[in-house]
Amino acid sequence: MLYPSHIDIIQGLSRHPASISPKYFYDQRGSELFEEITRVPEYYPTRTEYALMRAHGEDIAQAVRPCATVVELGAGSCEKARTLCQLLQPERFVGVDISADFLREGVARLASAVPGLVTHAVAADITQSVTLPADIPRTGRLVFYPGSSIGNFDPPQAKALLGRMRSLVDADGALLIGVDLRKEVSVLEAAYDDAAGVTAAFNLNVLEHVNRLIGSDFAAEAWEHRAFFNDALSRIEMHLQAREDACVRWPGGRRDFAAGERIHTENSYKYTLPGFSALLASAGFSRAQAWTDDRGWYAMVHARP
Ligand code: AVI
Repeated sequence: MLYPSHIDIIQGLSRHPASISPKYFYDQRGSELFEEITRVPEYYPTRTEYALMRAHGEDIAQAVRPCATVVELGAGSCEKARTLCQLLQPERFVGVDISADFLREGVARLASAVPGLVTHAVAADITQSVTLPADIPRTGRLVFYPGSSIGNFDPPQAKALLGRMRSLVDADGALLIGVDLRKEVSVLEAAYDDAAGVTAAFNLNVLEHVNRLIGSDFAAEAWEHRAFFNDALSRIEMHLQAREDACVRWPGGRRDFAAGERIHTENSYKYTLPGFSALLASAGFSRAQAWTDDRGWYAMVHARP
């Protein structure tokens, strides 16, 4: 069935160059493949963030306290919130995610791991707007956005999302966010084109998902994964490139691709710390403090209004 919300897929496929939103990576198989990506040796962000939280958790908690409520955006399994809540001991945790069932399970697991924590699950698309239930006090909120997903938004979208985070907190609130930093191009490119081909499978899987959503006839084997660093825009770009001339049809439309033509599927922006502080400031967070790993590859940034 073609839902109105999937019209954006057809619009993206009809553009020159074509694109598919990265939100369509995450069907069941795509979510499993993403979990696998986080374990491949070349993909450093997830394990670096965990290591940072282990190494600097106490200092981070010290900077964040007092904190009554942790609000995690894109919370999913709530795994990352566990260490933070154990360190901070807030009264309340609010998990926000688009996938309500998955979120409820994660929130329930967190509640049993942190005795006494009052938990809420809020189903919302953080790229649109986030409204929390009125009974969640505004004072002492920490917005937690780990995982460097802020990098998947273009700067204007990232500014708008940070602005929505700012509107969730009062003057006594704060943000704790994971940010992937600029580094050697070979390290970046390997992280998005691992030797085992897991990222390639993740990228190609979007075509199967799109086929189910709009009834198109993409043949995944006719496409190949491409990932490279765009230095001028400071971002990894992922594309799918046609191995040969291809025609893709869906009910009511078609698109012809020449051999070598690409579909843009994702950007992953890599920031410098001054660049990210400037972005934060433009969204109303002016006082920022960062913890980085020894290689300076990744940062946990704490910012206050
Ligand atoms: C979810 N996000 C932070 C990942 C990233 O690194 O940009 C998505 C990803 N795409 C390919 N590998 C990982």
